[in-house]
Amino acid sequence: MVNCSLFRDWHPVLEAEELPPETVRSIRLLGWDLVLWRSRDRISAWVDRCPHRSVKLSGGTVRNNSLVCPYHGLQFDETGRCVEVPGCPDWRPPPQLAISGYATAVRYGLIWVSLQPEAEASQIPEFPEWEDSQYRKFLCGKYRVRSSGLRVMENFLDVSHFPFVHEGFLGDRTRPEVEPYEVNLDERGISLNNVRIWQPDPDGTGIGAKVTYNYHLSQPLVASFEKLSPSGRLTIFFAICPLDIENSLGWMWISMNYGEDIPEAELREFQDTVVRQDIPIVESQQPKQLPLDLSMEVHLPCDRSSIRYRQWLKQRGVRFGVVSNDSPSPKVWEKGLGDDDFKTP
Ligand code: FES
Ligand code: FE
Repeated sequence: MVNCSLFRDWHPVLEAEELPPETVRSIRLLGWDLVLWRSRDRISAWVDRCPHRSVKLSGGTVRNNSLVCPYHGLQFDETGRCVEVPGCPDWRPPPQLAISGYATAVRYGLIWVSLQPEAEASQIPEFPEWEDSQYRKFLCGKYRVRSSGLRVMENFLDVSHFPFVHEGFLGDRTRPEVEPYEVNLDERGISLNNVRIWQPDPDGTGIGAKVTYNYHLSQPLVASFEKLSPSGRLTIFFAICPLDIENSLGWMWISMNYGEDIPEAELREFQDTVVRQDIPIVESQQPKQLPLDLSMEVHLPCDRSSIRYRQWLKQRGVRFGVVSNDSPSPKVWEKGLGDDDFKTP
């Protein structure tokens, strides 16, 4: 596997209810086809390939808390050990005939997988409102985007597109200015603080106002923000599954401590509309992988978030879904700018 920090992170792959007990699903994560299956009380994620003749185990069935291969019926228990070989009933499979699995967990209604054994995986990012009964919560997505998860996340952190892509929803072309905001980086990740912009109707009251966004990312493909408007606090916890270098799925948990009388269908429709506005823009970005070298695209003073995001990805050793400046590409502008031109405080 690629030596890249995304392989240590946890990624959402499916909603928990999409995998009831004793069922099997095929999933894709970081370019790998995996089989995800659930016994009565455990979820296992393995490479989707039988060690016998390499057919996809996701075509199999669950029986007696074991996964049965569809080709010759070998049975593998929850730990990956082969426990039955129907064609040779008197032969005891040796302990080495076992599939190694990856870490799985259910959190926030989603199934998460890390392509590491449990002990070596990082932490699943926190979602503090999950346990807070003052917040009404609903899950939006999954959204399919034909681009790198890193491009998708960078768009989530970019507020200067609101007046253009989301005009009338999240911004107003006549008031496009993004006030200077703070970007902080520490061992907990990246924070963007005090991102102030004008919105035509920030909280469903129909009254325009300046709102404040504060963002936090603890790993490259999971972020959350809070939006503070006159009516209260809204947060979005956004988790992206990198299917492969050019395809992603995203889920958004929205939580709000106001607007109890607004029907959930209306809130969901708003969010779906906003994401549908983003998708064609992100899918049109070329290359689909994110260029980490800052000289490969032009950056503006209001792009502090994405400049810092790219620098942070580089520091973390992210190699999956990124493009380097020795890849062939046409010349787009006259003079390249280097990392030194974008020193952030
Ligand atoms: Fe799976 Fe033979 S290929 S049992
Ligand atoms: Fe957007």
